Amino acid sequence: MKYIELNNGFKIPMVGLGTVGLNGNEGKELIKDAIKVGYRLIDTARMYNNEICVGEAIKESKIERSELFITTKLNQTSYNYLKAKEDIEDSLHKLQLDYIDLLLIHEPYKCSYDMYEAIKEAYLDGKIKAIGISNFNEKCYLEFIESCGMIPMINQLESHIYFTQEELRKKMLEKKVYMQAWSPLANGKGDLFNEPTLINLSHKYNKTPAQIALRFLIQRHIGVIPKTSNRDRLVENMNIFDFELMEEEMKDLFKLDQNKSVTSWYRNDWF
Ligand SMILES: NC(=O)c1ccc[n+]([C@@H]2O[C@H](COP(=O)([O-])OP(=O)(O)OC[C@H]3O[C@@H](n4cnc5c(N)ncnc54)[C@H](OP(=O)(O)O)[C@@H]3O)[C@@H](O)[C@H]2O)c1
Repeated sequence: MKYIELNNGFKIPMVGLGTVGLNGNEGKELIKDAIKVGYRLIDTARMYNNEICVGEAIKESKIERSELFITTKLNQTSYNYLKAKEDIEDSLHKLQLDYIDLLLIHEPYKCSYDMYEAIKEAYLDGKIKAIGISNFNEKCYLEFIESCGMIPMINQLESHIYFTQEELRKKMLEKKVYMQAWSPLANGKGDLFNEPTLINLSHKYNKTPAQIALRFLIQRHIGVIPKTSNRDRLVENMNIFDFELMEEEMKDLFKLDQNKSVTSWYRNDWF
């Protein structure tokens, strides 16, 4: 596994497991399998309603805590400073952890600044190792860093071959804010796995279209958190560090950018 150093010196694995829809015994066993095959980053959120399942998987995997990197996210139900403080404790309890590696504000909310006060406090208390935001588009991001009092370490965004968000990535680099891609496989939409450019490259490098799509991201220092409920694909999605796309090939992949979300969930008018 490769790691990237965040702007506070803390290191994050470049590939993690997304856990939307993973729950119950089946979800728990899959997360344990992911840890067994080498995943070290697990991405959950209070919104996914599966922190208990993630916590049980971690405990049963019997892996050293320091080897794992656990992300969770607060949403608008943590609507003010006190509620956010309470919910951080609740997440720690559900995950059965003494600290959370990364805590994000799930989307830009009117109460983001209040929430962030509680997040910063927990960070300074050592209950959180890195803090960040998610789905903050350029306008929200620039406004937020103006007055949030501590530059976030991460902005987790929808990003894949059809929606690269390259301009925002470059803007964030100025402050060493690391971009992590959610839906790095475009949520399996837009016929990504049959995309001719990906298929051609997959033949050249003896990789799958999914591996080429993920490589396109990590080669630009973007972390990825693909979700799969298939055990073979768990291994496939991690196995992306033994080849390198050429500059011209990266340019060809950029030509697929439609500069818009493929998910119905993403809104560009947040906040
Ligand atoms: N911060 C946010 O607001 C936000 C929003 C959305 C998602 N997320 C995070 O990002 C994670 C990933 O996003 P996502 O679940 O929307 O989409 P994704 O990872 O881009 O795509 C998942 C889809 O691709 C399929 N798949 C995965 N690996 C594959 C492979 N190697 N070959 C073929 N198909 C493959 C999966 O099916 P199988 O399961 O059948 O393999 C699933 O249908 C989420 O789980 C969540 O943790 C964050």
